[in-house]
Amino acid sequence: MLDPDEIRKDFPILERTINGRKIVYFDNAASTQKPIQVIEAMEEFMKKHYANVHRGLHTLSQEASQKYEESHEIVAKFINAYSWREVIFVSNTTEAINAIAYGWGLWNLKEGDEIIVTIMDHHSNMLPWRLIAQLKGARVKYVDINNEGYLKYEELEEKISNKTKIVAFPVASNVLGTINEARKIARLAHEVGAIVVADGAQSVPHVPTNVRELEVDFLAFSGHKMLGPTGIGVLWGREDVLEEMKPFKVGGDTIKDVTLDSIVWHDLPWRFEAGTPNIVEAVGLAEAVKYLSRIGMENIRNHEVELVAYTLKRFEELGEELEYYGPRNPHHKTGVIAFNVKDLNHHTTGASLDLFGIAVRTGMHCAHPLHYRLGLKGTVRASYYLYNTFEEIDYFIESLEKIIMLKEKFTREIPTSICTGT
Ligand code: ALA
Repeated sequence: MLDPDEIRKDFPILERTINGRKIVYFDNAASTQKPIQVIEAMEEFMKKHYANVHRGLHTLSQEASQKYEESHEIVAKFINAYSWREVIFVSNTTEAINAIAYGWGLWNLKEGDEIIVTIMDHHSNMLPWRLIAQLKGARVKYVDINNEGYLKYEELEEKISNKTKIVAFPVASNVLGTINEARKIARLAHEVGAIVVADGAQSVPHVPTNVRELEVDFLAFSGHKMLGPTGIGVLWGREDVLEEMKPFKVGGDTIKDVTLDSIVWHDLPWRFEAGTPNIVEAVGLAEAVKYLSRIGMENIRNHEVELVAYTLKRFEELGEELEYYGPRNPHHKTGVIAFNVKDLNHHTTGASLDLFGIAVRTGMHCAHPLHYRLGLKGTVRASYYLYNTFEEIDYFIESLEKIIMLKEKFTREIPTSICTGT
């Protein structure tokens, strides 16, 4: 089992106070905090081993290259990739999906083809497909959700056809928390020869991930949502699919040779990592993965299930004053809970929680179509991770009770910058 009180000792920021209260950090779906091990690994690397990678025979460059390559291996093992060569470092999930859209979609789609995405997709796994469809004369189709916040699989089956070339979906929703049946989706897509793009931004940090079992062709995720730094993310692709894909960005380190008439692309994954990469961040991501592996992804998953179960139970005490969205069964969702307090704007609730030192995200969470589908202008989102505790949930519920009780008084003016609905 996991001991959050022990884990918290590794996270210096959790000692901070906000508005005179000990911080309660419930904004993990947006970004996670960093353990001292990650901070120190990056510092140590910069102090002792830093140089550019794959560009020098000198010792520092060799050391940096070795660390950088090892980081690929560590990530590959974490997701049970067939080979470290399938792991491409990009800046984040958004860049990974754009890389597939422009590296695979641009070269393979043609007029009349169809791309299927879901209504619960985050913009990062929706907008690249819409733009590429526009460019190629293809059509985007959407799979709806049911009233419980699950994907309508029967609708997916109806919409998939021989015209379908790409099926894109989130392994877990960043708003509803719903964990989708990746393998079922992948099998339906593969039956018609479509490629399968899984957005793992909200799943890889929270549930054990085995790309061989998911059976998808691509998986995208971000380092900063899994205790790593910003600026580093992963595009995993099956080797045979990557071999067929074109580089989305080209430049330094993507080639074996270039003449004025020809290009010989580099081996995987370097062909897709153009320019000087985020070397220090790659070292940080590898350390974050080591940290998560030491704690154990099964333990992290179980802890989040318990936190969600406890929250939903305590929500019952708030009765009709609170509405929440997505599956009721904690085993079917990640540690993400989107809700609203009755008659209170989501931003007001979020800003009021901040007065108590509780950090949540408010708005549409880069998933506008999903909110419109739910008939909502926005939600408050609490999202948990391995360092969150039951005591923090008690304090969260008590704070919500106070907010509900004093609803009229909690109308602190909200800075316009957070009122944009994003
Ligand atoms: N996609 C991130 C979120 O859901 C930024 O908050």
